[in-house]
Amino acid sequence: MRLLSIVSPALIFISASPFVIGEDWVVQVGLANTFTFTPNEIFPAIGDTVTFTYLTRNHSATTTTFTSPCPPPPGGVGPNAFDSGFVDSVTSPGTTFTTTILDTEPHWVSCMQAGGAHCRLGMTLSINPTTNQTEAEFMTNAINS
Ligand SMILES: *[C@@H]1O[C@H](CO)[C@@H](O)[C@H](O)[C@H]1NC(C)=O
Ligand SMILES: *[C@@H]1O[C@H](CO)[C@@H](O)[C@H](O)[C@H]1NC(C)=O
Repeated sequence: MRLLSIVSPALIFISASPFVIGEDWVVQVGLANTFTFTPNEIFPAIGDTVTFTYLTRNHSATTTTFTSPCPPPPGGVGPNAFDSGFVDSVTSPGTTFTTTILDTEPHWVSCMQAGGAHCRLGMTLSINPTTNQTEAEFMTNAINS
C-alpha cells in the first residue's frame, strides 16, 4: 500500500507525457493472399511507428514517388525514405518490419517485387496523404505506371 502510493505518481507522469512513447500503426501486408496493404492509408504523427506485418508471399514495403511509383527503387525514395527489403512470408508468416515516422510529409509506399508487377496491381499505402494527393490517385498512378 505504501509502495503503491510512492510509485503511482511517477507512472501517471510518464503516461501523460506526449514524447515518451508514440503510437504504433500496424499495417498488414498481403492479407488473405491479396496484393494489398491493410489499411492502405494511415496518419501517423512524428515519433509514431509503423509496423508492417507480412502475412503471405514475398513482399517489400518501400517508399516511392507519387507520380511514377512502379517499381519502388531499392532503399526507397526520400527524404526519410525506408525500405524493408524483400520479406518472405511463405516460410516465415508474421515477420514484421518497423519504421519510425520522422516528419509530417506524405510518404508513398509500394512493393518492389517482380519488377514492379505487385505495384502495378495497385499494392499501395499512403502515409499522411493530403486532399490533393490522395491514396486513390496514388493507386491509379501505380496501376498506370
Ligand atoms: C524474395 O523475392 C526476392 C526478389 O524477387 C528474391 O530475390 C528472393 O529470393 C525471394 N525470397 C525467397 C525466399 O523466395
Ligand atoms: C494542394 O493543396 C494545397 C491547399 O490545400 C495547395 O496549397 C497546394 O498548392 C496544392 N498542391 C498541388 C500540387 O496542387
